[in-house]
Amino acid sequence: MRAIQFTPDADRLARARIVEIERPVPGPGQLLVRTALTGVSVGLVRMLRADASANPGGEMVGTVVAVGSGLEESWIGARVGGVVFASLYAEYVCATPAMVTEIPAGVPAADALAVVRGGLVAMGVVHAAKSVAGSAVLITAAASGAGHLALRLARAAGATRVVAAVGSAGKFDFVRECGADAAVTYDRPWSETFDIVLDGVGGDLVQRGVDSLGPHGTLVAFSAGGGAVDTSTLLGELKTVTGFSMGLLSRTEPQLIERYRAQLWKLLEENMLRPHVEVRDWAELDAVVDLIATRRTVGRMAISAGPAPW
Ligand SMILES: NC(=O)c1ccc[n+]([C@@H]2O[C@H](COP(=O)([O-])OP(=O)(O)OC[C@H]3O[C@@H](n4cnc5c(N)ncnc54)[C@H](OP(=O)(O)O)[C@@H]3O)[C@@H](O)[C@H]2O)c1
Repeated sequence: MRAIQFTPDADRLARARIVEIERPVPGPGQLLVRTALTGVSVGLVRMLRADASANPGGEMVGTVVAVGSGLEESWIGARVGGVVFASLYAEYVCATPAMVTEIPAGVPAADALAVVRGGLVAMGVVHAAKSVAGSAVLITAAASGAGHLALRLARAAGATRVVAAVGSAGKFDFVRECGADAAVTYDRPWSETFDIVLDGVGGDLVQRGVDSLGPHGTLVAFSAGGGAVDTSTLLGELKTVTGFSMGLLSRTEPQLIERYRAQLWKLLEENMLRPHVEVRDWAELDAVVDLIATRRTVGRMAISAGPAPW
């Protein structure tokens, strides 16, 4: 089968090469999935920055073609989507049923790819904020794969005002189309006060988010980008900072993830959630990684080993 390997490169983050390798054999309790679409995200960029020959995981959608021991043959032929932890960029991947879900008939593969990780993150983050209904909400990285879905989900959860914060004004039209009432960039002061900040960027923006909260406000940090908070800025107005991790939730509360997935499928079927997914050919992976690393993408980026339909 074909797979993509990353190798260090002097001129860029890493170089993606298409190689021929043995097709994996599903181990006990594993599904072998022929991939249709594979997600590309800032998570991959971070992995390559840490190790330019990384063997990354991430989200994919595809069709089950074989099962390992202990799994029902009835899985074969199922259209599934979810997350694998390594060896993602290949024509065939091994996945565990706990980390994938069957895609309802009628949900296009690209929409499914957008929600099986980014949609779950967006929904989890909105729920982590607890009291979105009736609140003014600021979302950073609002044009990202997870962020653009969080805009809609915050609105659907009853937010009275949703403001999108993005890296550049060129993303304003996109976030407004995704349901934002207003858009701001990181390099200008934020004049409004919010009840909730959902931070998908980290670094300095965490403290800026806290400073933008009104009394009793909550910031949910969901980025792997780190960041520090001066706790003295929390006390006077009883502000809260909390975190969100899809990984932990998948392991500790799988029934909650199931519920979120069911809600996401329903929203897609009712046309209430309209993910934006841009699909490129495998051969363009280097270019896609560059676009993400330089923060020039909107929505979810994906690559496909073959032409549409997937
Ligand atoms: N907690 C969880 O379980 C979980 C799971 C998955 C992802 N996440 C987080 O959610 C955020 C969005 O992830 P995604 O997969 O949806 O992103 P994505 O689709 O790859 O979006 C890329 C966009 O994210 C923004 N961004 C934020 N931090 C960045 C950085 N360090 N380098 C480059 N771009 C950055 C940029 O937009 P702007 O320039 O407009 O900010 C960029 O254009 C990330 O911070 C990621 O760590 C959290």
